[in-house]
Amino acid sequence: MAPLLTIIGQLDDAANLPLYQQLQRGLRHAIESKLLSPDDALPPERDLAEEFAVSRITVRKAIDGLVAEGLLTRKQGSGTFVSSRVEKNFSKLTSFTEDMIARGRVPTSSWLRKSQGTVTPEESLTMGLSPGTPVYRFNRLRFADDAPMALEFCTVQAFCLPSVDAVESSLYTALAKAGYRPTRALQRLRAVLFTAEQAALLRAHEHDAGLLVERRGFLPDGRAVEFSQSFYRGDTYDFVAELNASELEK
Ligand code: GLP
Repeated sequence: MAPLLTIIGQLDDAANLPLYQQLQRGLRHAIESKLLSPDDALPPERDLAEEFAVSRITVRKAIDGLVAEGLLTRKQGSGTFVSSRVEKNFSKLTSFTEDMIARGRVPTSSWLRKSQGTVTPEESLTMGLSPGTPVYRFNRLRFADDAPMALEFCTVQAFCLPSVDAVESSLYTALAKAGYRPTRALQRLRAVLFTAEQAALLRAHEHDAGLLVERRGFLPDGRAVEFSQSFYRGDTYDFVAELNASELEK
């Protein structure tokens, strides 16, 4: 990797933009235009401060912002790296937790809401359930290495879990434990623009592009287990599908 000063250029003390924002802008541009590649390590903050003739606080502030945006990732003990986009294979029925671990990221969640009730008319249509069916609802903000990845709403049939508190860090782990992990799912993906509220939770901006992934998960006997809506930040998540022509060749 070329020295960052060569890639980004000198910061301008006299410019209107604060120094940390200039550095941030330079780093963002370098990442977005692939002058820095995923998993590239940034030099230590001390070295960057010296290179750009700014204080360490300025460097720290610039990096903090890019970590919050998900462009950089801090790994404890080993430094700061350019984040790699998470690639999700569209054809595997995996959980968020499994997807992140498979990519070397550390998944965490913060709970926004947990509740029990009966299906809404919309859920009853989507999940093919009769009115009055008991359900649990889970609303979480999901993180990878402390960067927000998705805002998730799940509705699960109540019989699939011993209680609404059975879910700790992973819904699918709790469902597997109870013997009701879905074995088949229908998934729909579409582009959305974040509302102000979604953007604030995901540390994005209102009207930023996102991906809405909706999943209906079923048991082997065809009963619906879950209906979920996950709003992923469009800049950190890639869906990959493996396609083959074997069906056509037959
Ligand atoms: C993905 C799926 C959801 C599912 C969730 C479970 O995000 N799109 O339908 O509910 O994984 O994840 P976890 O087991 O990590 O809670």
